[in-house]
Amino acid sequence: MNNNVISLENITRIYSSKEVETTALSNINLTIKKGEFVSVMGPSGCGKSTLLNIMGLLDAPTGGEVKIDDRKINGLKDKALSRLRNEKVGFIFQSFHLINDLPVIDNVELPLLYRKGMWAKERRKRAKTAIEKVGLNARLKHYPNQLSGGQRQRVAIARAIIGNPGIILADEPTGNLDSKMGAEIMEILKRLNKEEGATIVMVTHDERLATQTDRIIRLFDGARVE
Ligand SMILES: Nc1ncnc2c1ncn2[C@@H]1O[C@H](COP(=O)(O)OP(=O)(O)O)[C@@H](O)[C@H]1O
Ligand SMILES: [Mg+2]
Repeated sequence: MNNNVISLENITRIYSSKEVETTALSNINLTIKKGEFVSVMGPSGCGKSTLLNIMGLLDAPTGGEVKIDDRKINGLKDKALSRLRNEKVGFIFQSFHLINDLPVIDNVELPLLYRKGMWAKERRKRAKTAIEKVGLNARLKHYPNQLSGGQRQRVAIARAIIGNPGIILADEPTGNLDSKMGAEIMEILKRLNKEEGATIVMVTHDERLATQTDRIIRLFDGARVE
């Protein structure tokens, strides 16, 4: 075991349409080790989201190899990929991606609905534990539109961690928040990393947040730069 949680080898991602080809990523090599908190920075359009989506098995590269826990995932069928993603990865997005007509607790439970053989009672219990970890116990029955932006993002974090995924991928998680709420979200992510051993990759435009992580991966025009 070499503790590589995510490895990307010579990853290329080209988007093709009838008229144009866009190279979003070219020849990316990187490894993320267990327990690392890494940030990804670079100008708009440089490929950060594409990179995160490939790491999290939401998107497939057009070239190169992705490994999760040192296992090649190329060639896995959709169903196996979805299961792996559901078990290993929790996503957090800039715009929260909550379901507005479900209360907090139901939003948080969602990832567990895809796991076979888990009882409703167990799902509730785990959802409450996850919600406690982000400090929202008093808001279980609230709906997303009754919460502040920072609280919504905390719900999204609880949803991301409910299945104990081990890997948290956060795409500009503080991008829609003011600096105080952003700092709160950062504190939660740091705690999940330090106390629960979560491996975290976070896209951010905020140097002050990035410098609090173990290392910064910088992208420019789809390639890594120093
Ligand atoms: N679905 C898509 N179809 C075509 N081009 C895309 C698509 N998604 C992203 N791109 C292009 O790929 C490049 C990288 O996009 P993205 O990964 O979203 O960058 P970032 O997150 O750094 O802003 C951009 O040039 C963007 O326009
Ligand atoms: Mg992006």
